[in-house]
Amino acid sequence: MAAAEQIKSLIKSFGDGDDDRFFTSAMLIAATEARQGHTTFAQELKSLIEKAKKNRSLAFLDRGKTIPILQPKRELLDLIDVFQPRISLKDMILTPSIKEILAKLVKEQENREILQKHNLTPRRKLLLTGPPGCGKTMTAQALAGELGIPVFIVRLDGLISKFMGESIAKLRLIFDAMPDHRGVYLFDEFDSIGSHRNQGQDVGEIKRVLNSFLINIEKDQSNSIIIAATNMPEMLDKALFRRFDDVINYPLPSINEISETIKKNLTGFSFNTRINYNKIAEEAIGLNYSEIVRACEETIKEMILSGAINISKDVLIETINKRK
Ligand SMILES: Nc1ncnc2c1ncn2[C@@H]1O[C@H](COP(=O)(O)OP(=O)(O)O)[C@@H](O)[C@H]1O
Ligand SMILES: [Mg+2]
Repeated sequence: MAAAEQIKSLIKSFGDGDDDRFFTSAMLIAATEARQGHTTFAQELKSLIEKAKKNRSLAFLDRGKTIPILQPKRELLDLIDVFQPRISLKDMILTPSIKEILAKLVKEQENREILQKHNLTPRRKLLLTGPPGCGKTMTAQALAGELGIPVFIVRLDGLISKFMGESIAKLRLIFDAMPDHRGVYLFDEFDSIGSHRNQGQDVGEIKRVLNSFLINIEKDQSNSIIIAATNMPEMLDKALFRRFDDVINYPLPSINEISETIKKNLTGFSFNTRINYNKIAEEAIGLNYSEIVRACEETIKEMILSGAINISKDVLIETINKRK
């Protein structure tokens, strides 16, 4: 019999959700049994442990809950955010051409079984480029919300810095989960991988991870949607672009989109004076969506805290200008 201490440790680590300690305790029990001459039982234990380990590392979602819970090896938890977004594409302000491409993807995804019957693959691999704050991350969430599937946000820079030498295996773990867990997988901020070069990280490792990422994307045949996003497409090898069904550039908003963004974010409030949205939008040229949304929020806060009942046009223009 295994020592009482080992069994207690086994149960405790299970209770704590500590996979690593659980498997170590189980292996210790197997080793004790082997020393006592119970070799068949020890072998059985070992193979049970190996199998459980494998299943465990692929177990991603708890489908019973509205917000799926990630249950991979706990180290991966720090690198992947998973949730069920509540936004959809109509919450975004987009140029007509971007809207069209995204609508196409949604339509092909919603009809993927019909397409597959005809041996056609629905669109599902996107590369999003463009300056920060223009909706790349939001697009991944909106698409997931639109399709009613979870979004998995993977931080590649974290993967590299945390798992030097092991990152390819960790990346593989994520791709392995895709067929069983349909979702939108966002590999966010590629460009930050490049920045490790300046911090003396192993350039070879970074290249290998990127390459392995490309190969994984190319090989992937799952029903999941893969989105890669970068603020700096020039850091990427052009060969990467061919792997995607669409490459979409998200530009800074122009007058039309700016005034739509302001209107949307100030819905339900009225101004203290008649205003011309296009005139205000002109003030915000050069700002990204994120900054415009924040300027609107700040203006609303100012209204509330000053006890006013209307939005002040001057305050809005001032907060916009402060962000330039
Ligand atoms: N196209 C857009 N339409 C509406 N809001 C946007 C848009 N782009 C960005 N935003 C706002 O800015 C925030 C940050 O955008 P995000 O998608 O994270 O930018 P990126 O990933 O391109 O850096 C969003 O949460 C949203 O509030
Ligand atoms: Mg982003």
